[in-house]
Amino acid sequence: MIKAVRGTRDILPPDSALFQFVEAQAREVFRLYNFQEVRTPIFEDTQLFSRSVGEETDIVGKEMFTWEDKARAQSEKAQSLTLRPENTAGVVRAYIEHGLGDKGQLQKLYYMGPQFRRERPQKGRYRQFYQIGAEVIGPASAGSESPARDAEVIEMLAMLLDRVGIKGWTLLLNSVGCANDRGKYNEALRAALKDVVGQMCADCQRRAETNPLRVLDCKVPEDQPTIEKLPKISEYLDEPCRENFAEVKKILDAVGVKYELNERMVRGLDYYTRTTFEFTHGGLGAQSALLGGGRYDGLSEMLGGPKAPGIGFALGLDRFVLALQSEASGAQVQSAVSAYIAPLGAGMNAAAAKLARELRAQGVALELGDESFRLKKSFEAAERTGAKFVVIVGENEVKADTFAVKDIKSGEQKTIPRSELAKTLGGR
Ligand code: HAM
Repeated sequence: MIKAVRGTRDILPPDSALFQFVEAQAREVFRLYNFQEVRTPIFEDTQLFSRSVGEETDIVGKEMFTWEDKARAQSEKAQSLTLRPENTAGVVRAYIEHGLGDKGQLQKLYYMGPQFRRERPQKGRYRQFYQIGAEVIGPASAGSESPARDAEVIEMLAMLLDRVGIKGWTLLLNSVGCANDRGKYNEALRAALKDVVGQMCADCQRRAETNPLRVLDCKVPEDQPTIEKLPKISEYLDEPCRENFAEVKKILDAVGVKYELNERMVRGLDYYTRTTFEFTHGGLGAQSALLGGGRYDGLSEMLGGPKAPGIGFALGLDRFVLALQSEASGAQVQSAVSAYIAPLGAGMNAAAAKLARELRAQGVALELGDESFRLKKSFEAAERTGAKFVVIVGENEVKADTFAVKDIKSGEQKTIPRSELAKTLGGR
């Protein structure tokens, strides 16, 4: 028996309908906020991720699915390729590659699709998982650096959570500063870590040297008390960063989106500057982050592009569905079909198929039975589909061009002429 690979899974009905429901709500919210879709490749040059997400992160250091792609032709070079662990790097690469900022406009792009990380699988954590995300990026002259963009993205997420019907969320907010204050903060962290890092985990010991900010991201329980005592980033923000963060909070207050400040939240990717955020949910267990994001003002330059400040987020679609299920608030997924066509008696399949084709063309979602079924079996099959009506297609009905339509719940039966059938069944 060949099974799905560890950490991957099949998303089956009815869960797949919940995935579609969240996707549809997200598309609608993106439309309201003037975002357009971008689709980037599922695999990229490995360097794209090591340069943006960062060598010292868990994602790049431990979790990527990377392989050496052999040269197939003389014109090709062997290349290290990686299944995308996230989509921001790909979007920024596309932004640079296609000169999307060249005309001076702001780009507002969204994406949906699978991402891959070799993490230890558990509830809400998979090796293939699904993200919906968006990025606002452009030249500074287009307003891409404005704290109004940060606040708008965060407010949009509150709107999306409302529409989807997820209630018990918490927004965690932080500012990780800019290149200007990062140096000073890193120095302060190194100094504070000097005497204590010997007792910390091997990752912390290495990161204290290479990238001290990453120490704050450590999940090892024994290290937490030490980390709590480290200097706070808020004390090292320069004046523009402080003002920027104050403005983000002011707008969020004005629009009524509640947040908690959390100075430990530096996020697991290296490209962040200034605002970072996560929305968590109590019903998710250990993997409580519903979504995460932040600003990345230097990312385009890190990838060899022009200055193009940006902010974005990605939500874990798998986790949205888990949160919905945990709240049982029932994002009510509508029954797929409204009618079941029951051919009655030998030779009736063709007439039933013709009727089904007409009705579907008029917008009626329906299931088509089989002439070999007796009436009782057709009714049982109809009930399993969740259809509201059964339409009986027997010889007499076809001759008279009127059909017996039975309401499954009430048991009421009516005779409806062909011309009025679609309307009765909820079509056009
Ligand atoms: P991230 O925090 O690494 O950020 O991932 C975003 C979300 O993806 C998480 O909050 C979580 O819901 C979901 N997620 C991550 N890993 C897994 C997993 N193994 N299984 C299930 N769900 C998972 C990013 O990816 C950034 N690119 C977000 C961003 C966009 N920042 C700026 N723009």
